[in-house]
Amino acid sequence: MSSDQKTFYIETFGCQMNFHDSEKVVGTLVSQGYSQVQSEQDAGLILYNTCSIRDKAEQKVFLRLAEFRKLQKQGKRFAVLGCVAQQEGEKIFEKAPHVSMVAGSASYRNLPEMLTQIESGSHRVTGLDDRRTDQTFETEFTARGNAHRGYITIIEGCDKFCAYCVVPYTRGKERSRTAESVLREARQMADAGFTDVQLLGQNVNSYKDPSGKMSFAELLRAVGEVEGIKRVRFTTSHPRDFTRDIIEAIDSVPTLCDHVHLPVQSGSSKVLREMFREYSREQYLERIAWMKSTRRPISITSDVIVGFPGETEAEFQQTLTLLDEVQYDGVFSFKYSPRPNTPALKYIDTVPEAEKSRRLQVLMEHQREIQRINYRKHIGQIIEVMVEAENAARAQWIGRTSQNKTLNFSVPAGVQPEIGSYHHVLVTQAFPNSLAGELSAPLNA
Ligand code: 5AD
Ligand code: SF4
Repeated sequence: MSSDQKTFYIETFGCQMNFHDSEKVVGTLVSQGYSQVQSEQDAGLILYNTCSIRDKAEQKVFLRLAEFRKLQKQGKRFAVLGCVAQQEGEKIFEKAPHVSMVAGSASYRNLPEMLTQIESGSHRVTGLDDRRTDQTFETEFTARGNAHRGYITIIEGCDKFCAYCVVPYTRGKERSRTAESVLREARQMADAGFTDVQLLGQNVNSYKDPSGKMSFAELLRAVGEVEGIKRVRFTTSHPRDFTRDIIEAIDSVPTLCDHVHLPVQSGSSKVLREMFREYSREQYLERIAWMKSTRRPISITSDVIVGFPGETEAEFQQTLTLLDEVQYDGVFSFKYSPRPNTPALKYIDTVPEAEKSRRLQVLMEHQREIQRINYRKHIGQIIEVMVEAENAARAQWIGRTSQNKTLNFSVPAGVQPEIGSYHHVLVTQAFPNSLAGELSAPLNA
């Protein structure tokens, strides 16, 4: 590859882990002398960071790769990264012969060597993992996409093996970074002007400091105490490993945000058992009770799957009653979709597609009503927001609250809030997914 071709374009799908991986991949490429371009036409190297969590992810990837193929000319190279890369492996070379690199996330720390191989003309560079990798991908070159709010990976991989989920097969075995290295990154971010950090992992609650110094709750507190950091979030949690000390940390460290995302998946203990979730409805609700007994107004959100194999109407109804009991502020809901390699593939998928769609619709409407009521409770409150962007078309600014709610606000003529600054806003209107209001007083005013 000649030096004028050392340009790359990257496209990313999937979860926050994937987006953050891409930030690290971009940083690594730049440190290797590549420059990023914004269109695939201009790039010598096209990277496609894929997700395989649901639906027909593989087919979508192959369709996109076929589009990329039309761009192929001498010297243009294609790399498939992420969960579909790990899942499909070398089959990708057969189905899409223009691809020269296939790498799952557990191999990204070897990217510099893999890039050298591509540059020297190799056509089949692989970075695949059989759940053996026990090292994490740490780089000083993360190219963060936002100057105020950023991610820090604390744990990679997953050892949970929920019956429906591909992640343990695509992201490898669970491995944590040392608390020292996480804290170093948090301090560097604070020094660089970041005030909002989000600790990331497929299951942050099973964080295990390799140096044995800190539990997850202790790490959370320590990040919250880093000078300059104003907001700390974490995602995603697993109810089985969600311990009370996490809630105690939130209750006592003001920088830890008023938000916990605790995916429940189903309100039926029987379905949960079949999903291998290792907790019952009652145990889940116990964790919710901990959150509700704090002094902090913790906003709770969740993920739910409808139409898991064998889910009866009565079991689905139990999910609806659980939504009523918890009073979530947000729920990501999905129709069950069979995924390669997963244990649930062996179950008979008893719920017809049309019924899954109906249940999803019912659940979404049910939840919308809960949110309509929850969000209305904020009217009249003064809430602190971090300014994320301007919505010039509506003469508003977009703010985010500690509870992770969007609060759009107007400002007096001539006032220009800075992106990343914090302000207090009086809430005047509420919708099921956002709030609106007006600037109350600048912070500390
Ligand atoms: N089918 C439907 N939803 C799924 N999720 C994970 N795997 C599947 C699947 N096979 C959902 C879960 C998880 C979220 C990230 O995606 O709710 O929490
Ligand atoms: Fe998609 Fe899961 Fe992989 Fe994230 S970990 S990219 S959600 S398959």
